[in-house]
Amino acid sequence: MPINLNNPIHSTSDAFKKIAPDLQGNILSSHGRDHANHVFIRFKSPASARSFIKKEIAGRMTSAAKQKQNSKDFKSRKSNGLRTFKNFSLSHEGYRFFTIEDGQIPSDETFRGGMVASIGPLRDPTQADWEKAFQKNWHAVLIIANKSPTLLKIRTSFLRAKLNNIATVHVETGTGIRNNEGAHIEHFGYVDGISQPHLLTDEIEEGKIATNNWHPAAPLSLALVPDPGGNPDALGSYFVFRKLEQNVKAFKLAEADLAQQIGTSVDVAGSQMVGRFRSGTPLIPVEPPQPGPASKMNDFNYDGEGSTDSKCPFHAHIRKTNPRGTGGFELREDEKAHLFPRRGITYGKDPKNTSIDPEGDVGLLFMAYNSNLKTQFEFMQSSWANNTGFPGQAGGPHGIDPIIGQGEDAGGQHHYEKWGDDTSKKRIKPSLGNFVTMRGGEYFFTPSISFLKSIGRSS
Ligand code: HEM
Repeated sequence: MPINLNNPIHSTSDAFKKIAPDLQGNILSSHGRDHANHVFIRFKSPASARSFIKKEIAGRMTSAAKQKQNSKDFKSRKSNGLRTFKNFSLSHEGYRFFTIEDGQIPSDETFRGGMVASIGPLRDPTQADWEKAFQKNWHAVLIIANKSPTLLKIRTSFLRAKLNNIATVHVETGTGIRNNEGAHIEHFGYVDGISQPHLLTDEIEEGKIATNNWHPAAPLSLALVPDPGGNPDALGSYFVFRKLEQNVKAFKLAEADLAQQIGTSVDVAGSQMVGRFRSGTPLIPVEPPQPGPASKMNDFNYDGEGSTDSKCPFHAHIRKTNPRGTGGFELREDEKAHLFPRRGITYGKDPKNTSIDPEGDVGLLFMAYNSNLKTQFEFMQSSWANNTGFPGQAGGPHGIDPIIGQGEDAGGQHHYEKWGDDTSKKRIKPSLGNFVTMRGGEYFFTPSISFLKSIGRSS
């Protein structure tokens, strides 16, 4: 019987046991390592590429089952947590390179068009303005991750040596950065990775996540689709990769300037752009909101705001990208269907090791797993983040998302001098934004392990 994708699952369930050995890791839950290389590959000849897949990829990727076992072993101290995580995805051009039959190639038209074809709808810079490495069309991306940067270096050199004569390679290195309390942050200094749809209910239990006002459980169908090239029940996921460069200096100047304009502290000004304080504390349940110590609080929604936004501005990054029931959808489930698991990692120099705020060369390697690129990642970016009218109707437009919004915006963001007081509204013209620049990316498909074995078999 094919697996039912309409529910989340637990790792002790029969459903998990059935799908996890053939499903690659990182989709159901994050690989969680702070050091990861993303090795982009363009093979030279199908014959040598197939032989590489057979020897180095097919039987060596970390399945969801193995990922779960590794994490159990680490928790029970059976392992030191230094096992390498590996995952392999193909672009549409990669599938064509291996001359895979059309019926065995994932059918999503947006995937087949590649990220370049979506530059218009996403309002991305033209490809000529992307980093040189992303002006090439890559066949595949291999993620290699480890807790130890030294082990990661060794494993990556080993693979690079194998690829040396048979492919062109480009590596993007991700390095997790943390604040003084040990929480993961992004380069503007805010705690990241708090709110996720959880396909594995274990994560809700283990994280003791409260679910009274926001339930993060999500059906498998949010990320998984049948893999037409694998075994009969094989599953895979569309994988989004985008290199997003952050201009930290410009962002911090804008925060300070905004604080002056609306007569608040820099902390409060920044929180109105992100929707959370640097510490992670969200603006909604706190009265009045305080920067406070690190917080992973995620059990809130915007219902109490009615049609206004003086507690958390409509344009705030986390409200644009997850309106939690205020996005104008008849059914909450319809709104939630646009969300997806995010798996990004920061890149560039750790802010702890520098005294200057960088204007570039640091940022986020944004990664996400989708079951439908058009209605998930692309919808969130273009119909929510870039859309000055979203969410909420009253008194719009509300401006673009100041963190990731792209495109023309004459103004519309409004900030508040006093939390919860609609009369303290101040409009900012032009809207704040353009602190993040898309430097290149691609759509991939992360196939089943049975499919990878089948490519290797025909070598
Ligand atoms: C450099 C770029 C980005 C930065 C600095 C950034 C930063 C953040 C931060 C600080 C949070 C709050 C932590 C959390 O709730 O997990 C967050 C949440 C989130 N971000 Fe981003 N982000 C970036 C790119 C993106 C992109 C490209 C998307 C999607 C198109 C996105 C979607 C989301 C979503 C869905 C949430 C969770 C919202 C919620 O459920 O409340 N982010 N981001």
